Amino acid sequence: MAVRFAVIGCGKVTQRLTLPRLAACSSAEVTALVDLRRPVAERVADAFAIDRRRIWTDWKHMLTEAPVDAVAVCLPNYLHAEVTLAALEAKKHVMVEKPIAVTLQEADAMIHAAQRHQRYLMVEQSQRFEPVHEVAHEILQSELLGPITQLHGRIGHAGPEYWSTDSDWFTNKPQSGGGALMDVGVHIVDTLRWLSGKQVKRLCCHAKTLQKRLPVEDNAGALLEFTDGTMGSFGVSWTTRPYEVTTAFYTERGKLRTAVGASHPITVQFGKLVGDPNQPLSREDWHPSVGPTSRVGSAYAYFIDCILNDREPFVSGEEGRATLEVILAAYESIRTGGWVELPLSSGARPAAGRRAGATRST
Ligand SMILES: NC(=O)c1ccc[n+]([C@@H]2O[C@H](COP(=O)([O-])OP(=O)(O)OC[C@H]3O[C@@H](n4cnc5c(N)ncnc54)[C@H](O)[C@@H]3O)[C@@H](O)[C@H]2O)c1
Repeated sequence: MAVRFAVIGCGKVTQRLTLPRLAACSSAEVTALVDLRRPVAERVADAFAIDRRRIWTDWKHMLTEAPVDAVAVCLPNYLHAEVTLAALEAKKHVMVEKPIAVTLQEADAMIHAAQRHQRYLMVEQSQRFEPVHEVAHEILQSELLGPITQLHGRIGHAGPEYWSTDSDWFTNKPQSGGGALMDVGVHIVDTLRWLSGKQVKRLCCHAKTLQKRLPVEDNAGALLEFTDGTMGSFGVSWTTRPYEVTTAFYTERGKLRTAVGASHPITVQFGKLVGDPNQPLSREDWHPSVGPTSRVGSAYAYFIDCILNDREPFVSGEEGRATLEVILAAYESIRTGGWVELPLSSGARPAAGRRAGATRST
């Protein structure tokens, strides 16, 4: 059985990630493509051999007219909540691009709607499907390295103008929710949260617009304290060349570093437990093998599997919300100039997901 998808938004993420991933899934069929700009939708439809009769320019009409089981929300951030809520209301499963939304109130409404309508809501936190992070997660969640004492992460690229050349919403705060911190910060914060399995207790963040003429930050850095006392930090940038996603975890027995795209994407070192602990246990670093693609195919292959097998995606609405909360706390810290405690107040917190305690079994 094929899951019938509507892809809403035919911009860069749809062209580079969403449609190639859906095309690679034998159990997915794109039965609707939506974009305000019909010529863009037509170009995309032609490139992916999708019948032009499946194009809509109004997502509301599409939701009532198209034969669709699931919706991919690939729109500017400020539209995520409105479109996701309508799609859930129309009884569609939803994969929403990161960040889940731009406010916690929106995220809460989306989580509640998924529960109310008994549909799955997954957030496309694509770094969780990077092969390097999948392997690092397995190592860090094992007992091998012992407890983590410090962790750090950094993500940077040259800026959204090099990604989506004809879009201006990324730097328009009401539409994006912020600059580099909102755009790529959600990736590194989500990665650090997932790899460590820890929750942020408080943070202090500093942001600047260093190189670009923008009303939003192009660089930011934060200090973190987790609920178990672990210390950490992250940095984000829109002025980094070439693209970088790196993490470092310092543990009782050694350290683990990751670097997406590097010749050695994971480096593990153990310190001597007997003798001089400043010396590595082995003269050779350990570089665990990392495959070329996600073990589950892709975020979309995984989401389709969840729909077909009726199980809650592990990148649930709650997970997307928890990551967004850290980013919003960082903006609050920038505003106040001090440490900010989590949880942030945002009204009632949602209960657990459609199925509580979802984990990824693969
Ligand atoms: N997961 C990832 O790795 C990743 C990477 C890049 C972008 N993203 C996210 O994907 C989303 C889209 O980013 P993008 O780079 O594709 O942006 P984009 O500007 O390239 O594309 C957005 C598209 O939405 C269309 N659109 C805008 N309003 C619309 C409406 N009301 N109805 C129908 N279409 C509308 C625009 O015409 C445009 O084609 C953002 O939330 C972004 O954060 C995620």
